[in-house]
Amino acid sequence: MSNPSTTDNVVVVAVDGPAASGKSTVSRALARMLGYNYVDTGAMYRAITWKALEEGIDVEDPIAVIAMIHRIKITFEIVDHQARMLIDGFYPGDAVRKPHVTEKVSTIAAMPEVRHVLVQHQRSLTKLGSLVMEGRDIGTVVFPNTPYKFYLEASPEVRARRRKRDLEAMKIDASQEGVKESLQRRDKKDTGRSTSPLQIALGATVIENSNLSVEENAKVLLDHIRQQGQRRGSFGVGGA
Ligand code: DC
Repeated sequence: MSNPSTTDNVVVVAVDGPAASGKSTVSRALARMLGYNYVDTGAMYRAITWKALEEGIDVEDPIAVIAMIHRIKITFEIVDHQARMLIDGFYPGDAVRKPHVTEKVSTIAAMPEVRHVLVQHQRSLTKLGSLVMEGRDIGTVVFPNTPYKFYLEASPEVRARRRKRDLEAMKIDASQEGVKESLQRRDKKDTGRSTSPLQIALGATVIENSNLSVEENAKVLLDHIRQQGQRRGSFGVGGA
C-alpha cells in the first residue's frame, strides 16, 4: 500500500507521544466517540518482546529476534472495536505490561527490521475500517499523510503518577521515583534511536494534557478533527 491514509472513506487519526502521556486512554475514548477501531501499536512491540523473552531469546541479539519475527505468524482480531495482535494464534493480553517486558521493549523497538514488519501490519489495518492509532511514529512514519495528527505530552511527575496507577491496577508495586526513572530511560531510548525516533510529526497538534481529564482531552481532539474536516470540506477521508 503506497499511501495508506488516502484510502477513500477510511480515516486515520494518529496519536503519538512519550510513555504515559495518556495516549492509550485518550485514543480509546476518542475511538469510542468516533465509532472507529482503536489500535495500540506499543502493545505490538511489547508482544514481540514478550514472545522473545518467553522463548528465551537474547533480546539484545538482533539476528535472533529477526529470525523469530519471521518465524512467527502475526494475525489480528477486532474485539470491542479494539485491534488485538495474536502471535501464532495466541493473544498475550496483560502479560505484555509486566515490568520485565517493559524494561526490554525499547531495545526491540529500536530494531529496524522489527519496525519494518510491524509497520506493514499497522498499515494493513485500514482494511478493517477507520481507526485511531497510537504510538511513537504514527504521524511521522506509519501514516504521514493523514491530516489528523496529534502529539500528547504531560509533565514527568504527572506521567509517573499515571504509570504508577496503571501498575497498581495490575497489582504491581513500584515507587514513584523508580517509575519516573524507568520512564526517563525509555524516553531517552525512544527519542534517541536512529530508526523512527519519537518526534512531533509535521503538522501535528501538540496537546499538553497534565491538567486535562481523559474525557476533556478526547474532546479536544474530537473538536480539532471536526474543525479540520469542515475546513477540508468533508469529514470521512483521511488523505492529504
Ligand atoms: O506505548 P508503550 O509504552 O506501550 O510502548 C512500548 C514501547 O514500544 C516503547 O518503548 C516505545 C515503543 N513503540 C515504538 O517504538 N513505536 C510505536 N509506534 C509504539 C511503541
